[in-house]
Amino acid sequence: MKEIRTKKDFHVSEFELVMALSEAADLICPELGMHQMQVAYIAVRIGEALDLSGEQKNELIMAGLLHDIGGISLKERLSLSHFEEVEKFYRHAEIGYLLLRSFEPLSDVATLIRFHHVPWSNGSGSTFKGHQVSMGSHILHLADRVAVLINKQKEVLGQTVGICETIGKLSGEMFMPELVNAFKTLEKEEFFWFDIVSPSIDSILAEKIRTKIIELDMERLISLSSIFSKIIDYRTKFTVTHSSGVAAVARTLARLVGFSDLECLMMEIAGYLHDLGKLAVPTEILEKPAKLTDEEFNIIRKHTYYTYNVLRHIDALDIIAEWASFHHEAVDGSGYPFKIKGQNLILGSRILAVADVFTAIMEDRPYRKGLPSDETLNILQQMVNNKKLDSYIVSLLKDHFEEVNSKRLASQKVSVDEYKQIILPYV
Ligand SMILES: [Fe+2]
Ligand SMILES: [Fe+2]
Ligand SMILES: [Fe+2]
Repeated sequence: MKEIRTKKDFHVSEFELVMALSEAADLICPELGMHQMQVAYIAVRIGEALDLSGEQKNELIMAGLLHDIGGISLKERLSLSHFEEVEKFYRHAEIGYLLLRSFEPLSDVATLIRFHHVPWSNGSGSTFKGHQVSMGSHILHLADRVAVLINKQKEVLGQTVGICETIGKLSGEMFMPELVNAFKTLEKEEFFWFDIVSPSIDSILAEKIRTKIIELDMERLISLSSIFSKIIDYRTKFTVTHSSGVAAVARTLARLVGFSDLECLMMEIAGYLHDLGKLAVPTEILEKPAKLTDEEFNIIRKHTYYTYNVLRHIDALDIIAEWASFHHEAVDGSGYPFKIKGQNLILGSRILAVADVFTAIMEDRPYRKGLPSDETLNILQQMVNNKKLDSYIVSLLKDHFEEVNSKRLASQKVSVDEYKQIILPYV
């Protein structure tokens, strides 16, 4: 029943993955467009004007791409575009830091993000609550405020004088004067502004980072995917542990099916990222305590489409993208959104579909409590009878129920503990 890879291991460019994940995180707030990419671009241009090192500039790009990942709800994201409400901003910056700091290749980037809303306050902003605030954080702060001042509905060049005046007035109080001066060297260049609002900003950033390509091995790939699963899951308290449960179940089922060690790890990643596209679904729909309307369900149906769109651009993740994104397809072709059917629905996607349904049924949801194991297995069997789920995978799950379920529980327990540490102090 094997399906793929002969390669022993594979590597993914850290930048490529961070770009994709950044794009996904910006789906939370379409009103702000590609905000994180824009901040990354403005920050690196200020870094260039200051003649910073290649490594510092790379860090600015990475930090820009991820700086708002701690802003988990749409409401919170939108409030970040209000120019004056800086005091309220520390929460998402701290959460972003707490999420990223355990990921060693980006631990410095995490620190930049932590302080990206600290005002300069005529010099006292060089520290915050006893911590040193680096110039990189102040660059991000300035870049972020420039980005939110741009009205995306209007032509950009007509706005630059006003934006530069606003920033200039806040030099010293809000922003480091040295950085405002560096920014002023850019403001006359039309292409600076055109780049910021360009739909090809991703390739512009890719050119800027090319000096240093860092590759992630499997362990780091899993670790970054697990961080992103938290951003997906923490948006509502009902799914806090969902993706980590799905990842554990999918990995265990993959092993029982006979997948190689590498494939089992890939399945774990697919589990972490399968609901990535849910970032585009408003929290009110995810948390609705009643049956969804047709329109709401149509919005939900987009999520796997977005998961696919985000992941498929990363060459090395092609198989993972398929496993992850086809988890709502059905054996008889009646699933969504690709209507894949029969043999075309590959085994990994079938495993993930079973892992997703199994985990979801056993969890508490806004409209019901988690179901007991016998009822869960009955529902899975009905879905097999109705040609929705793969019969072989479900029979494996039944035969190894205790093992699979204990892996799910252990993984979800770790996730609850992490949630308590990272988010609960801030709600
Ligand atoms: Fe922010
Ligand atoms: Fe899903
Ligand atoms: Fe799911």
